[in-house]
Amino acid sequence: MSIAVFASGDGSNFEMLVEKSRRQGWPQSITLLITDRPGARVLERAKRLEVAAVAFRPPDYETKAAYEEAILSVLREHGIQRILLAGYMRIVGPVLLGAYRWRILNIHPSLLPAFQGKDAPEQALDYGVRWTGVTVHWVDEGIDTGPIIDQKPVLVEPGETVESLRRKIQFVEHNLYPAVVRKWLTGEILPPGGSE
Ligand code: GRF
Repeated sequence: MSIAVFASGDGSNFEMLVEKSRRQGWPQSITLLITDRPGARVLERAKRLEVAAVAFRPPDYETKAAYEEAILSVLREHGIQRILLAGYMRIVGPVLLGAYRWRILNIHPSLLPAFQGKDAPEQALDYGVRWTGVTVHWVDEGIDTGPIIDQKPVLVEPGETVESLRRKIQFVEHNLYPAVVRKWLTGEILPPGGSE
């Protein structure tokens, strides 16, 4: 039984999840990284952490379904039971959702349902909210619409910049996401509708 992380960019959440899973001895390990960007920095982190990584190039596939079928066969080869999205910049389609119904989590840098989609910290600053935050939620077919599992607030202070707000949000993410995943693995958090 093992876990895959999907990421498209820097991968700081991926690294924190792997480190905490090892330090805390989680009942399932993170054994695979999937990325849709062959140049993503997260691949360097996976190498350093000795986590197997597979990079896909979506334009190589005729359809989104074909792209996700290719991912699915790699997930099956690796015996993956659960998926964590951590900065994966694509909408999960019916192929993966069907195979992993209520077994995919996402972390989003806002207090959902506010500021869904891309650039949530910028959206929060532009809107002028005093508080934003972080949400961990189940993944469904929408963009950042699945049932919420947990949230933590982040104060937007006077003079806040996008960079400073992003840093504060990431600090909170790095604690909240591993804590939620750990509870999921130990059965403290159950999928919508009850038992697994
Ligand atoms: C995080 O802020 C996450 O909430 C968002 O994308 C960012 C990924 O950061 N979905 P990193 O690649 O984990 O450093």
